[in-house]
Amino acid sequence: MWITIDKTSHIALSRQVYSQIKELILSGSLAANEKLPSTRSLSKELSLSRNTILESYDQLIAEGYLESKPGSGTTVANGIIKYKSTPSVNISSLAPTPVIKKDYIDFRSGLPALDLFPQKKWAKLYSDICNTIPASAFDYCSPSGVWELRNSISKYLFRTRGIQCRPEQIMIVSGTTQGLFLISKILYKSDHKVLVEDPIHVGLLNTISSMGYDFVPIKADDKGMNTDLLKPYTNISFIYTTPSHQYPLGGILPIQRRLSLIQYACDNNCYIVEDDYDSEFRYEGAPVSSLYELNPNKVIYIGSFSKLLSPAIRLGFMLLPNELLDTYKPSKMYSDVHTEAISQYVLAEFINNGSLEKHIWKMKKIYAIRRNHLIKELNQYFRNEFQIKGQATGLHIVVAFKNITFTQSLVQQLLEQGIKIYPVEHYCIQNKEEHIHEIILGYAHLSLDQISTGIELLSKILHQ
Ligand SMILES: Cc1ncc(COP(=O)(O)O)c(C=O)c1O
Repeated sequence: MWITIDKTSHIALSRQVYSQIKELILSGSLAANEKLPSTRSLSKELSLSRNTILESYDQLIAEGYLESKPGSGTTVANGIIKYKSTPSVNISSLAPTPVIKKDYIDFRSGLPALDLFPQKKWAKLYSDICNTIPASAFDYCSPSGVWELRNSISKYLFRTRGIQCRPEQIMIVSGTTQGLFLISKILYKSDHKVLVEDPIHVGLLNTISSMGYDFVPIKADDKGMNTDLLKPYTNISFIYTTPSHQYPLGGILPIQRRLSLIQYACDNNCYIVEDDYDSEFRYEGAPVSSLYELNPNKVIYIGSFSKLLSPAIRLGFMLLPNELLDTYKPSKMYSDVHTEAISQYVLAEFINNGSLEKHIWKMKKIYAIRRNHLIKELNQYFRNEFQIKGQATGLHIVVAFKNITFTQSLVQQLLEQGIKIYPVEHYCIQNKEEHIHEIILGYAHLSLDQISTGIELLSKILHQ
């Protein structure tokens, strides 16, 4: 049974087993009357004590998920309706990881170098802003965000991405996650579905499905979402995509697919949500154009400062077509009134005085060195046993290792020996089999020494 145990987590082991079996039952992956492994064999498979498994089974029996009959073992109970908003992927292994103290090398993707966040500059600016803004700035502000920030983002987008938009269209949100949540909410129709890339960031998939949507996975390959597969689907609210750097495989959506995506959206009267989460960090070739510029009426562009600066500041933005502005604003208002305003003034000044672009420029150089070092170490320890995907942009790469399958027990073994890796299979809705040899390696937050130690350890264990 596919269960992932994180022994470093603060969540009790029996609770981890309980939650994952529960998810499998609710999502329909474990059907009524299906027999569960014996507590003895599951405890062996997961390297956990039999008591831990007994405790989880007992709880599931108590809550009616499982039944235990003498002589026939433990089976899934009858009459549990598939819970439609639960995605059929292993959520628990991919929920945003809480920051916990750990002594392993964590190749988690998408984390910038937190130790290089311009702390002093940010603190000084924050203090200067607090000391100089008028008292009225401490009042409630517009749900759309602080005007100064919206204005500076519109200019920044034009300078760096060639995107032409008016500050009025820019809605400040607390990160991509909130933006996507609000979009899902305002576009919701009970008989409409959402088309999503597969594989996908599971936290964001959960954000969409938490609104009650059924989603349809559209396979992504090394060129991003395969738009030939869109045709059969109708009654679609929106399509979620990462065209500049498919997450996690790294492909760039070619123009032919971009055009057919837009055509599909026009024909089906739906929107495209473009998640542009890390395209500023492009190491090879010219910056990739946005999908937004092809049709600003059909594309909702979402940007985030989580990777450019830090995920803790919770600042992002959306470019909305005019026709959505009036429905969006009350939705944001009822959600959190507005995103915290003082940080918005700080970020506006940080952009206006050139600090953001300087910071990105500096980090891009550092990340390029880390990326090159990672590739060098992979070459040294694995020679021709691997293939890299998506290395031109971003804060992570995907590596496919010939003849190595990243099973749960291998992932667990690696963790116990000091290295945490992320199998691509965990991010798949369908076609998991195709990705069993691939892992995601996030490198931006790791020092060169940590990268070397991590890859050496990986080689030692994989070559055993
Ligand atoms: C694909 C993708 N989109 C967006 C984000 C940023 O999310 P947020 O702005 O909510 O921090 C991430 C962060 O990991 C991501 O991987």
